Amino acid sequence: MNPLYDAKIAGTGKYVPKKIVNNLDLEKKLDTSDEWIRTRTGMWERRYKSEDEASSDLAYEAALRALEAANLKAKDLDMVVVGTISPDHSFPSTACILSKKLGIKDIPAFDLSAGCSGFIYATSVALQFISTGNYKNVLVVGVEILTTLINWQDRGTAVLFGDGAGAAILTRTERNDVSKILDSDLSSDGTFGELLIQEAGGSRCPASIESVKNNKHTLYMEGNKIFKLAVRSMQASCEKILKRNNLDIKKIDWLIPHQANFRIIETLGKKLHIDSGKVIVTIDKYANTSSSTIPIALDEAIKSKKIRKGDLVLLVAFGAGLTSGSILLRF
Ligand code: UT7
Repeated sequence: MNPLYDAKIAGTGKYVPKKIVNNLDLEKKLDTSDEWIRTRTGMWERRYKSEDEASSDLAYEAALRALEAANLKAKDLDMVVVGTISPDHSFPSTACILSKKLGIKDIPAFDLSAGCSGFIYATSVALQFISTGNYKNVLVVGVEILTTLINWQDRGTAVLFGDGAGAAILTRTERNDVSKILDSDLSSDGTFGELLIQEAGGSRCPASIESVKNNKHTLYMEGNKIFKLAVRSMQASCEKILKRNNLDIKKIDWLIPHQANFRIIETLGKKLHIDSGKVIVTIDKYANTSSSTIPIALDEAIKSKKIRKGDLVLLVAFGAGLTSGSILLRF
C-alpha cells in the first residue's frame, strides 16, 4: 500500500552517563583482560549510570536534544514510543514517565520490547502512524540501562554492556523533500528466545529469594550461537530491503548496524560487500547499549557531519526475541 504521507528524521539526540568504565577497570573486577575484550569484541570503554539514574532520565536528556535538533517543542509531539528492555519499572511504561518529564500528556505513549532491535521496531511503528496521516511528529527513543542486569559471575557477558539513550523525531515531510524514510523491514523468530533472556522477574519466574540467589534476574546469553544468528539475520534483512527497493549495496552511503561485537559488524560488512569506510562504528566508546546503539551512532554520525542531507542510510539491528529489522532512509 502506498503511504498517504512520507516521514523523515527531523532531529536526533543522544545521552550517555558520565561515568566511563574501561577494560582495565573490568580487569580489577573480573577474570578478564583488556586484550581479550578488545580483540574479541572491539570494546575499549563503556558508560555506567550513576546511582540515581534510571532509563527515563537518560531518555529525557536524549529527547530534549532531539527536539532541539528538530526545532520542535515537546508540546508539538503527537506520540512517544520507547524501545527498551530495561524500563524504569515493569509498569508504568518508561514512555509515560518520559512524557511526564517532558510536560506533555493526552497523547499516546508506550514502550516496546524488541531487545536490541527496539529502536528499529519503534521507528517502524512511528512511521506507520505518520504515513496514514494520523500523526505529524513522533518521538522515538532507544534507551537501556543493561548494567543493572549484569551477571558478575559470567565474564562472557559481564564485559559487554553499557548504558545510554538515543532519540529521533520522526516528522511528516513534504512530497518534494528529498529526505524520507524509504522502507522498513521487521522480523522475529521466537524459537531461539532462550539463547538471550532475563529469566526471572516476570510471570514465568516471579521474584523470589531463590531467583535472586541464583542470578536469574540477570542477563543470560549463549554468545556463540547468538553471534551466528546476528550475522545471518542482519544480512537477510539488509538484502531483503535493498532488493525490495531495487538498490545495490554500492548505493548505500552509510550502514549503521547494531553494535554488539566489532567482529559481527565486520563479518556483516564483508557478507554485504560494503566498503568498510561506510560502516559507522561506536562500539569502542560505548560497548553494547542494546536498543540505543543505533540512535546513538546515528546521532554521532549526523552531528559529526559524516551523514549529510541526501545520503542513503541503512540501519540494521538484531536482538532478544529473537528479533531483527532494518530501516532504509534518505537523510
Ligand atoms: O546485543 C544482543 C546480541 N548480542 C550479540 O550479538 C553478542 C554475540 N556474541 C558475541 O559477541 C561473542 O560470542 C562473545 C563476545 C559474547 C564471546 O566471544 P567468543 O569469541 O564467542 O568467545 P567464547 O564464548 O567462545 O569464549 C572463548 C574463550 C573461552 O575460554 P576457553 O574455553 O577457550 O578457555 C572463554 O572462557 O574466551 C573465554 N572468555 C573470556 N576470557 C577473558 C569468555 N569471556 C571472557 C572474558 N575475558 N571476558
